Amino acid sequence: MSTVLVAVTGWEPDAWARQLTKQLPGHTILQTDIEGAFPGSVNTLGGVDYLLAWKPKPELLERLSGLKVIFSLGAGVDHILGVDKLPDAPVARIVDPDLTARMSEYVAWQALHHLRLGPAYAQLQAGRQWEELRQPAASEVTAGLLGLGVLGQDAAAVLRRIGFRTIGWSRTQKQIESMECFHGGEGLDDFLSRTDILVALLPLTPATENILDAGLIAKLRKNGPLGGPVLINAGRGGSQVDSDIADALCEGTLAGASLDVFSQEPLPADSRIWDAPNLVITPHVAAVSSPRALSVQIAEQIKAFEAGQPLKNLVDRERGY
Ligand SMILES: NC(=O)c1ccc[n+]([C@@H]2O[C@H](COP(=O)([O-])OP(=O)(O)OC[C@H]3O[C@@H](n4cnc5c(N)ncnc54)[C@H](OP(=O)(O)O)[C@@H]3O)[C@@H](O)[C@H]2O)c1
Repeated sequence: MSTVLVAVTGWEPDAWARQLTKQLPGHTILQTDIEGAFPGSVNTLGGVDYLLAWKPKPELLERLSGLKVIFSLGAGVDHILGVDKLPDAPVARIVDPDLTARMSEYVAWQALHHLRLGPAYAQLQAGRQWEELRQPAASEVTAGLLGLGVLGQDAAAVLRRIGFRTIGWSRTQKQIESMECFHGGEGLDDFLSRTDILVALLPLTPATENILDAGLIAKLRKNGPLGGPVLINAGRGGSQVDSDIADALCEGTLAGASLDVFSQEPLPADSRIWDAPNLVITPHVAAVSSPRALSVQIAEQIKAFEAGQPLKNLVDRERGY
């Protein structure tokens, strides 16, 4: 029987190991501690067949000489592909209805918060002021999805159902019903100039690193119904320049923002972005990976792989996602 290693840093490994033991009876399930360190003899690591990883420690990966498949415990894989001396095994990522639904909930929650002037009403409430503000209809507002993958397309469909106009941008050309799609460097400026609420759901790759900077923010539609553009980033923090976003909020170039991810996580207590106006901060929880839901899917992948069937949701290492 095969050996599975759950290697997670900052997450509780027990819940994953418990679920996998149920799903893969007879397999040996090993786990790191919550800091990502392996408490057993490192000599056993050479016998590991499958790695389930969230921010795995590089020194651990080096020892996995017999690895057959790496499963990312998140939809993103930058935490794995960024590791030096990554074993030469296929990398599969999570595509799961539970995770997708959670992300679309987050995007809808934040888009509605800005549409319905949540920051302004919170301020009025703090001052015990009863005042009616003009609220635009969703149909007056264009949400631009930066990233049209599994998460971007589902979030767009949910936003459209609420009434927003949606447009999208991706690396390669797409045709999606009910939304205009832009792609590549040549399509970016047009896309930005039409966007009132920018929803970033991009993977972190060399091409998307720091893409959400002052230059990009300056190209968003200025005279839209929200009094200025809004940024929602629930992709990866490495895609954004925190200080540019803080400046844009303070200067009013951005009317509001919701950030679930940051270039440094946990966000340091002394970061000045905490104090930026009209900003919602959440601690990388837009779509959390549920051990119960995802272990079933990974166990099915392992069983299918052992039966000689192809793996699903494979990542292209060259492309970076
Ligand atoms: N905050 C959270 O809790 C949380 C949870 C889950 C996931 N995430 C993040 O969300 C990201 C997206 O997930 P997903 O499942 O939707 O990924 P996906 O299906 O791989 O989609 C990625 C999308 O980004 C586009 N893209 C990639 N590089 C690009 C570039 N250089 N220029 C333009 N577009 C580019 C892709 O374009 P093509 O379609 O042309 O390939 C694709 O549309 C993940 O990578 C992860 O970082 C965050």
